[in-house]
Amino acid sequence: MGEGMAIRILNVAGARPNFVKIAPLMAAFEARPRMSPVLVHTGQHYDEQMSRVFFEELGIPRPDVNLEVGSAGHAVQTAQIMKRFEPVVQSYEPDLVLVVGDVNSTIACALVAAKRHIPVAHVEAGLRSFDRAMPEEINRVLTDAISDFLFVTEPSGVENLRAEGIPDAKVHFVGNVMIDALLANLEKARACRALERLGLQPRRYAPLTLHRPCNVDDPETLGRLVGAIRQIAEDLPVIFPIHPRTRKTMLRFGLLPDADADRLGGIRLLEPLGYLEFLALMAEARFILTDSGGIQEEATILKVPCLTLRENTERPVTVDVGCNQIVGSDPERILAAYRNVVAREEFTCGTPEKWDGHAAERIADVLSESLG
Ligand code: UD1
Repeated sequence: MGEGMAIRILNVAGARPNFVKIAPLMAAFEARPRMSPVLVHTGQHYDEQMSRVFFEELGIPRPDVNLEVGSAGHAVQTAQIMKRFEPVVQSYEPDLVLVVGDVNSTIACALVAAKRHIPVAHVEAGLRSFDRAMPEEINRVLTDAISDFLFVTEPSGVENLRAEGIPDAKVHFVGNVMIDALLANLEKARACRALERLGLQPRRYAPLTLHRPCNVDDPETLGRLVGAIRQIAEDLPVIFPIHPRTRKTMLRFGLLPDADADRLGGIRLLEPLGYLEFLALMAEARFILTDSGGIQEEATILKVPCLTLRENTERPVTVDVGCNQIVGSDPERILAAYRNVVAREEFTCGTPEKWDGHAAERIADVLSESLG
């Protein structure tokens, strides 16, 4: 890059949680005159409610390029993204390709860039569930192995990368861009009257999200989970904005009466919500039930107890600060944790280091210094 020229960064986002992470990064890069960010949407998620709503609500600029890959199995989806991303890299000749999170778009674009000798930045590097049955774990390990800038959200990430032999000089503990987005939008979320629209009282309901293949692709596990949650929903309304993958498998396994079902006992089924409404729903909840990664982090900053319906977490700091409990898919364990949580009148927990709303700024600082 010549003296005085702007640093050209190709930023990649493909799936719902990526959009939340890319928003503060695009804003931080655009605010710097010496940076020239370009946004590539891979099209991994494409439904209105899974994609466009996030761009609008989070003020993400319209993507410069949309690869429109859509849904497919892992190999085909990853391959399609790679095939369509390579000509984009060739035509933009960026100084850096930046990827976020752990979805198929993340590894696909990192791999294309690395093979073309373009430096790669990975935001949310170093997280490990140590469970290679999760597609995300494979995506994380591989993306980190070929990245030049590894931006880490929590101390465990630094340790994990060190244990994998990644030089300290590449690793930057900067905090959490998903929390940047949360803090920037919380007031707006509270003003959007989501509770009113849904007829809910603060602290008198629990939001639920479920979409991990290990939970929703196996009829027995999914049936067990739904059974336990239906028991909870006898006492407290459970609000379930349902991921398209989960709606499809529930229908296939006969767990939903029909495609338009909006109730399952005390569980209320909703279409996927936008960012602001879901944030509002989390902020006022009694507790949260989820198998998502990012929601464990958002709950921690909102100081709402989180019960994680998985056997592990790649985000142990959320457990360490006292917000998150890993409860798996065993009904006994889920119900015991539930009783415990509702028995507590007051709830408080710690705040992870550097989850302060300034992670994207720190990333922009590191990149300006290194590439400028
Ligand atoms: C992907 C990520 C996962 C992330 C999740 C967030 C991978 C391997 N997985 O999982 O890490 O937590 O996004 O949502 O990248 N579908 C639609 N509309 C859409 C998108 C998907 O109907 O806009 C349906 C399709 O039937 C598709 C299925 O959902 O086959 C799964 O989508 P996919 O992107 O493959 O994985 P997710 O389960 O969304």
